[in-house]
Amino acid sequence: MTIIYDEAEVPSYVLPDPLLFADGTPVTTSEAWAARRAEILALFEHHVYGVLPGRPERMAFESTSIDVQALSGVATRKEVTVHLAGNGNTVAMNILIYLPNAHPRPIPIFVGLNFMGNHTIHADPGIALPTSWVPAFFPSGGIQNHRATDAERGLAASRWAVERILERGYGLATIYCGDIDPDFDDGFQNGVHALFPRDDSAGDAWATLGAWAWGLQRAMDYFETDDDIDAARVAVLGHSRLGKAAVWAGASDPRFALVISNNSGCGGAALSRRRYGETVGIINSKFPHWFCTNFKRYNDNEDALPVDQHMLLSLVAPRPLYVASAVEDRWSDPRGEFLSALHASPVYRLLGTAGLPVAQMPDLEQPVMGALAYHIRTGKHDVTAYDWEQYLNFADLHLRS
Ligand code: GCU
Repeated sequence: MTIIYDEAEVPSYVLPDPLLFADGTPVTTSEAWAARRAEILALFEHHVYGVLPGRPERMAFESTSIDVQALSGVATRKEVTVHLAGNGNTVAMNILIYLPNAHPRPIPIFVGLNFMGNHTIHADPGIALPTSWVPAFFPSGGIQNHRATDAERGLAASRWAVERILERGYGLATIYCGDIDPDFDDGFQNGVHALFPRDDSAGDAWATLGAWAWGLQRAMDYFETDDDIDAARVAVLGHSRLGKAAVWAGASDPRFALVISNNSGCGGAALSRRRYGETVGIINSKFPHWFCTNFKRYNDNEDALPVDQHMLLSLVAPRPLYVASAVEDRWSDPRGEFLSALHASPVYRLLGTAGLPVAQMPDLEQPVMGALAYHIRTGKHDVTAYDWEQYLNFADLHLRS
C-alpha cells in the first residue's frame, strides 16, 4: 500500500455539504441547523464512532487527595475518583486537577486525556500512580507487566504546560485514557464497555474512541459538581488519538465550551476523502478497536461515507474550535486538517460567527483565530509550549469575555 504524501496524487473528491439535509433540502436558518445537526450526529454515531450511551446505572465521585499548597504553593492539586458501575461491573476513573491559587474561583479549565498515566504529565511526586493497565511505550524498562512505576513520573511533562496554564489563570484536568478503556483490542471486555450490555447487530456499538469521549463527558459531570471549577468554561483538548476522542466528545456534548484538536489526523480533524497520509483502511487495520464496525465498510471506499470530518467539526458550531497541525506530521495530513476547518466554516457563519478568518492555509506559526482557529507550526507530531500558548490566547478570546 503506497501512502500519498504528494498533493498531486490526492484524488479529486466531492465533500458532502453540512448545510444540505440528507434529502437535499438546504439549511438556511439556525433553527433548521438544529435538526441537521441531529442528523449529522446520528450519521457519525452509526458510521464512524458508534452510539454513545448516557450515564451508567451508578456513578459516584470520591475525593481521594487534595493539596492546597501543590507546586510550591502555586496550585491546588485535587484527585477525584469517578466510580462507574453498571451491568454487574465497575470501573474507577481518576481525574487529576490543578487549579491556580492566585486566581478567583470558579476557574475555567482545560481537560484532556493523557496516554500513559496522570503521573507522567508532571514530576510532582504527589500524583497517584495509575493502577490500571498501562502501555509499555517508554524504552526506560521501568514498565513491567503493564504496571505504572515512579520511573515514568514527568516523562510526558513537555506536553503539558502546567505552570504556564496556571499562570494564565486556567486550571488543568487530565485523566489517563486507559482508566476509561485500555488501548488494545480485547473485544470490548475491559474498560467502560463492560458497564453496558453490548449489541453490535447494527454495526454501530461504541468502540475505544467512543469510550474515551464518554469518559470526558463523565468528567464534565464531575466538574458540574465542583464549586472551584467553572463548568460553563471547560475547554476539551487532545493530541492525536486522544485528539480524535476530544473532538468527538466536544462535538457530541455541547457542555464543552471550547474544543481543541491537536494533530488529530485521520478520524479526527483531517478529511478522509483526501487519503493523504493515514487512510481509513490503514487506521481500521492497525487499530480495529478504535471505530465502530460500520466504519470498516469505508476502507478504500471513502467516497461512500455519508459524512466527512469537516461535518464533525461543524457539530461544534458556534462554539469556539481550534485545529492545530505540525508541518512534519504528514501522517495526520495538515492540509486536510485545515480544509476540514475551512469547510466547517459555512455552518459557523450561518450561526452568526466569523468562522475561519482565512480561505488559504496560513504560513508556519501564523495562527488565525475567529470562532474557528487554525495554526500549523514547525516540527513534529507533538504538543508543544507553542501550541499551548495559542490555546491560552484562544481561550482568553472566547472564555474571558
Ligand atoms: C498512530 C495512528 C494515528 C494516531 C497516532 C497517535 O500514528 O496511526 O491515527 O493519531 O498513532 O495517537 O499518536
